[in-house]
Amino acid sequence: MWMFTTYFLLWLSGFDFTYSRDWTEYNYTSPETCNASFPGPSLASMCNDTSYDLFLSILETFVGRKQEIAQTCERITPIHTPDAEYDFIVVGGGAAGSVVAARLSENSSWKVLLVEAGPEEPVGASVPGFSFLISESSIEWGYQSTNESYACLSSNGSCQISAAKALGGSMMHNDMVYMRGSPYIFDEWAAMGNEGWSWDEVLPFFKMSENNADIDSVGREYHGTDGPLFVERLPSKPPFANAILEAAEEAGFGVSNDLNGNDSIGFAVFQTMTHHGARRSSAAAYLRPIRNRTNLHITLNSTCTRVVIENGQAVGVEYYKDEMLYTVNASKEVILSAGAVESPHLLLLSGVGPEEDLKSMGIDVVHDLPGVGMNFHDHLLFPIALTINELDVYNNWAALAEYIGFQTGPMSSTELGQVIGALPSGITTPDLPDIHIYGYGYTAACVADWIGDGQREINFWAGYEHPKCRGRISLASSDPFEHPSIWVNYLCDPDDVSGVVKAIEYSLELVNTTALKAYNTTFTATPLEVCSNYTFASTEYWECAVHYSASGEFHIAGSCKMGPSSDLLAVVDPRLRVYGIQGLRVADASIMPQVTSANIGSTCVMIGERAAHMIKQDWNYTDAM
Ligand SMILES: Cc1cc2nc3c(=O)[nH]c(=O)nc-3n(C[C@H](O)[C@H](O)[C@H](O)COP(=O)(O)OP(=O)(O)OC[C@H]3O[C@@H](n4cnc5c(N)ncnc54)[C@H](O)[C@@H]3O)c2cc1C
Ligand SMILES: *[C@@H]1O[C@H](CO)[C@@H](O)[C@H](O)[C@H]1NC(C)=O
Ligand SMILES: *[C@@H]1O[C@H](CO)[C@@H](O)[C@H](O)[C@H]1NC(C)=O
Ligand SMILES: *[C@@H]1O[C@H](CO)[C@@H](O)[C@H](O)[C@H]1NC(C)=O
Ligand SMILES: *[C@@H]1O[C@H](CO)[C@@H](O)[C@H](O)[C@H]1NC(C)=O
Ligand SMILES: *[C@@H]1O[C@H](CO)[C@@H](O)[C@H](O)[C@H]1NC(C)=O
Ligand SMILES: *[C@@H]1O[C@H](CO)[C@@H](O)[C@H](O)[C@H]1NC(C)=O
Ligand SMILES: *[C@@H]1O[C@H](CO)[C@@H](O)[C@H](O)[C@H]1NC(C)=O
Ligand SMILES: *[C@@H]1O[C@H](CO)[C@@H](O)[C@H](O)[C@H]1NC(C)=O
Ligand SMILES: *[C@@H]1O[C@H](CO)[C@@H](O)[C@H](O)[C@H]1NC(C)=O
Ligand SMILES: *[C@@H]1O[C@H](CO)[C@@H](O)[C@H](O)[C@H]1NC(C)=O
Ligand SMILES: *[C@@H]1O[C@H](CO)[C@@H](O)[C@H](O)[C@H]1NC(C)=O
Ligand SMILES: *[C@@H]1O[C@H](CO)[C@@H](O)[C@H](O)[C@H]1NC(C)=O
Repeated sequence: MWMFTTYFLLWLSGFDFTYSRDWTEYNYTSPETCNASFPGPSLASMCNDTSYDLFLSILETFVGRKQEIAQTCERITPIHTPDAEYDFIVVGGGAAGSVVAARLSENSSWKVLLVEAGPEEPVGASVPGFSFLISESSIEWGYQSTNESYACLSSNGSCQISAAKALGGSMMHNDMVYMRGSPYIFDEWAAMGNEGWSWDEVLPFFKMSENNADIDSVGREYHGTDGPLFVERLPSKPPFANAILEAAEEAGFGVSNDLNGNDSIGFAVFQTMTHHGARRSSAAAYLRPIRNRTNLHITLNSTCTRVVIENGQAVGVEYYKDEMLYTVNASKEVILSAGAVESPHLLLLSGVGPEEDLKSMGIDVVHDLPGVGMNFHDHLLFPIALTINELDVYNNWAALAEYIGFQTGPMSSTELGQVIGALPSGITTPDLPDIHIYGYGYTAACVADWIGDGQREINFWAGYEHPKCRGRISLASSDPFEHPSIWVNYLCDPDDVSGVVKAIEYSLELVNTTALKAYNTTFTATPLEVCSNYTFASTEYWECAVHYSASGEFHIAGSCKMGPSSDLLAVVDPRLRVYGIQGLRVADASIMPQVTSANIGSTCVMIGERAAHMIKQDWNYTDAM
């Protein structure tokens, strides 16, 4: 059956098999025994180009039947109706919440409920090559910021902000980059009065979460192998990735084998949160292996609308599923892990927040906590469009056959999307690698970038990772199903502007190297009319252009700030307990007082680990002592 289908695909493609793989190596061990409980929106439905429909639906059929990729036999079984009471209720099954629920349910005498607004992860999300395609309204919160005075000015000061509404949270569709960022930021958290959060204190939790498949390459000082979260280097990369590393040496930026280790500056092919070329969110990694635990209940498509608070104590939550309202009691604690928009949103809806704002929305004030929703921030990226000469044509059918057969090849990978430069700008802190330059290109079908005549479009994304600006999440309505008002206040500070501009200038230095000129790498942007008063590509020009063409990096954070009680904007204490309310914690990206200097997913996993550990300590669970 397997070989027949392969030949069918080869025939279909007029196929020239350039990957010299030995097909006898391949053992077809995965009979189609399970169907996905939620196949999800199909890849074809997410692709605008209908000429890929047949290809994408065949790909998806194979992926869905390959247990090693989509794990359809290992998915969790959601509950239909909850019990009346649990010990702990975790709201949000994303990067951090999945970890909290998995760790708390390790004590079999603790009953845990995980409430997730979205469905299971779609089958197609397992394929790294389609990382840039996985986004569709039924599994997206679809936020737009408003009120931006300094960013997204070509779209009326409104920036798009993506966040996934599915088990796995934004790890369901993120780019899988495994980067912790600079130790400096965690030491900064500790210096603000957050005891227990210095780099030396959080490193054990990063290592505890991690199952690093390339440990011989990255070493044990900074990495672990016994945790649930799969980390590896992607199985495939295009030759142009090596050219970028050569260019980095040539330009004096340097090359690093592991930006998460001692060598935190330079260009690198980074590690990803994947397993044998398949995406593994923290929900997949932590929850699937424990799917049989009877003391962990997971309810999907269930939107929490309020934490029930009585006499200053969180005693349960309310959620809607299939238009039915459920009220469930929590005898020990409620943990909000709904992400940097929804965690503060839920606190506000529950009457915890700035008194005046709650009153103006007609919400009963339970506790006046001025910091809720404040301190909201994100990283920012500026796209740099390039063309390169490229003779290799991406053969989708060959890529599909190789992926299903071996979980290698271009579909097992984000291709140029696994190259990054982490460089210091020197703007706020010497040697802090606060600039990120990402490659993007050689993407899979549908998001294809082949432009004919032996040329290909690629991009560098120039980012600044140490922003000063702060915005705010506030209620736009008392209706829990309406988005709150989201204001990031991107680029409000000249230093934040300089950071992005410096990132652009470093990127163009890279383009100028002989290593990249060998590919005739050409910068192709057309000058912006609104910035025509400045010489194109001058520093002044970029200082103008970033306000129009930059976009959020979707590393939203900070809106339930962790801090000591002396910090008037602090929402949670260093043990993540909400000030003024008993039995309520927040554990997700919103607790970061300052966003890390890198992609924040792995840090959210660490926050989940740290939160569960502290909760166990506080309830005298002996394993955590
Ligand atoms: C497109 C994109 C690419 C990214 N790329 C990377 C990357 O390559 N590497 C990296 O490290 N980071 C990346 N990130 C960032 C990273 O994925 C997120 O920062 C991280 O997932 C945030 O974790 P969290 O636990 O705070 O929230 P989330 O992971 O967003 O989880 C929150 C969960 O809560 C659920 N929820 C929300 N409200 C409710 C409610 N009322 N009731 C019930 N459930 C609710 C949501 O549906 C969601 O599942 C990317 C993000 C995006 C959007
Ligand atoms: C296939 O099975 C054989 C025999 O069990 C084993 O030696 C080989 O490593 C397997 N190949 C793969 C790719 O798993
Ligand atoms: C899986 O789906 C196929 C096609 O819809 C169906 O024939 C088969 O019975 C299903 N298998 C299981 C185990 O549900
Ligand atoms: C599909 O089209 C929509 C609307 O034109 C656009 O916003 C989106 O980016 C496109 N998606 C892809 C993958 O090209
Ligand atoms: C969740 O919603 C999706 C889309 O409507 C549906 O296909 C899926 O079966 C639902 N899952 C549960 C557990 O209700
Ligand atoms: C532009 O943004 C402002 C403030 O965010 C908003 O009030 C206004 O409605 C927007 N206008 C359009 C045309 O979207
Ligand atoms: C879960 O239970 C099923 C059915 O009893 C069993 O086949 C499977 O091996 C169990 N999985 C784990 C991870 O315990
Ligand atoms: C809009 O921006 C102004 C400052 O420019 C700020 O004071 C105000 O709070 C913002 N509004 C919202 C709803 O975030
Ligand atoms: C590119 O190199 C040329 C020649 O060395 C130099 O004049 C130019 O300033 C460089 N451009 C950038 C953006 O570094
Ligand atoms: C180099 O790229 C430019 C811009 O895309 C193109 O016009 C030119 O023909 C290319 N030169 C070669 C030698 O390929
Ligand atoms: C360019 O400069 C002129 C003269 O200072 C000014 O009137 C005009 O508004 C500027 N144009 C733009 C697009 O900023
Ligand atoms: C944990 O143990 C300490 C010391 O024995 C005790 O004071 C405290 O009440 C215990 N906490 C809980 C939640 O049982
Ligand atoms: C598990 O939780 C129960 C109830 O809180 C507690 O009595 C027990 O000591 C915990 N188990 C361990 C191993 O600590």
